[in-house]
Amino acid sequence: MSDAFLSIREVTKRFPNGTIAVDRVSLDVREGEMLSFLGPSGCGKTTLLRLIAGFEVPTSGEIWLAGKRLDTVPPNRRGTTMVFQGYALFPHLSVFENVAYGLRVRRVSREDTTRRVERALGLVGLVGLGTRQPNQLSGGQQQRVAVARALILEPALLLFDEPLSNLDAKLREQMRFEIRALQQRLGITAVYVTHDQAEAMTLSDRIAVMRSGRIEQLGGPREIYEAPATRFVADFIGRATFLPGKVAEAANDRVGVELLGRMMRMPVAGALAVGDAAQVMVRSEAVEISEDAGDGIPAVVAQANFVGGLAQYMLRAGEHALVVTVPTEPGSIILAEGASVRLRLRPELLRAFPA
Ligand SMILES: Nc1ncnc2c1ncn2[C@@H]1O[C@H](COP(=O)(O)OP(=O)(O)OP(=O)(O)O)[C@@H](O)[C@H]1O
Ligand SMILES: [Mg+2]
Repeated sequence: MSDAFLSIREVTKRFPNGTIAVDRVSLDVREGEMLSFLGPSGCGKTTLLRLIAGFEVPTSGEIWLAGKRLDTVPPNRRGTTMVFQGYALFPHLSVFENVAYGLRVRRVSREDTTRRVERALGLVGLVGLGTRQPNQLSGGQQQRVAVARALILEPALLLFDEPLSNLDAKLREQMRFEIRALQQRLGITAVYVTHDQAEAMTLSDRIAVMRSGRIEQLGGPREIYEAPATRFVADFIGRATFLPGKVAEAANDRVGVELLGRMMRMPVAGALAVGDAAQVMVRSEAVEISEDAGDGIPAVVAQANFVGGLAQYMLRAGEHALVVTVPTEPGSIILAEGASVRLRLRPELLRAFPA
């Protein structure tokens, strides 16, 4: 057996209306690992999470947690707890009672409850706020109450469904770091659902990129960014321009592609043979822009924007357009719109996909 703590095996969920929300998904999560389901709206993230939690029953396949098959175990006996997008706090109960709720249901003693609630509030930075009502808290504080309420049950597996999407951008970023730090400090095993790639990158040991109920790629944040398995993943993670090219050579894991009038040898994902049309991923870090006339690819700066520490250029090379973001030094010159430049592409950072 593998070292899987949570094991999802060939799980399919077909709803009565015929929608196949999860389609033969298999995946293992290691103990102490944080894994994200990342993908566009409707790809099946929440459904897969609800299957793990026991709020939905798989049409076929098996789910195992800590060596036990879960399929027939009711949600409250699975050792999982879920943090929801809307927090789902009880509005009429104090912060203390919200956090204590799960312990009360389990008839934990008064003394033990107080001790554990205080500890949970301490973990999420809410000491002293136990007597407030949820409507007397900021969004970020409510979010922390929801996390404390889940943590206090000491779940074997913590499940998050877009828990930060109600917060503003700055707070969201801060809470990402907090949740990640807490998860690592306590050694919690967690599955985290999001459609926000930056959130998934910050929080996760590994990311499962989902599309139409299937896992398109499973890997570490760096791996899925630098070596996307499909064009969909390349497009969904980070920013990239895709340029059309034609395969002129194919050998092992490299292809020679005619691109912008040049021949370039680059990594390839998927099957490409000589003569095939390719789509080439061009990320900003693959592009060097030079103002000197040289042997680079001629291009024109069609648009130039300063976006705080970064300059964003829309470059036109013949009939093609590519968007490139480059860091700016304080006081450095931003290229002017209309300027003629030369581009050099770093072939090792390009990636060819079947068109
Ligand atoms: N109870 C249901 N009955 C029928 N179809 C459903 C049900 N719940 C979800 N679906 C469908 O299953 C698919 C996956 O839904 P799901 O909620 O898992 O997506 P998601 O990835 O979480 O999306 P979002 O990012 O918008 O939350 C969608 O097509 C959705 O309409
Ligand atoms: Mg969802």
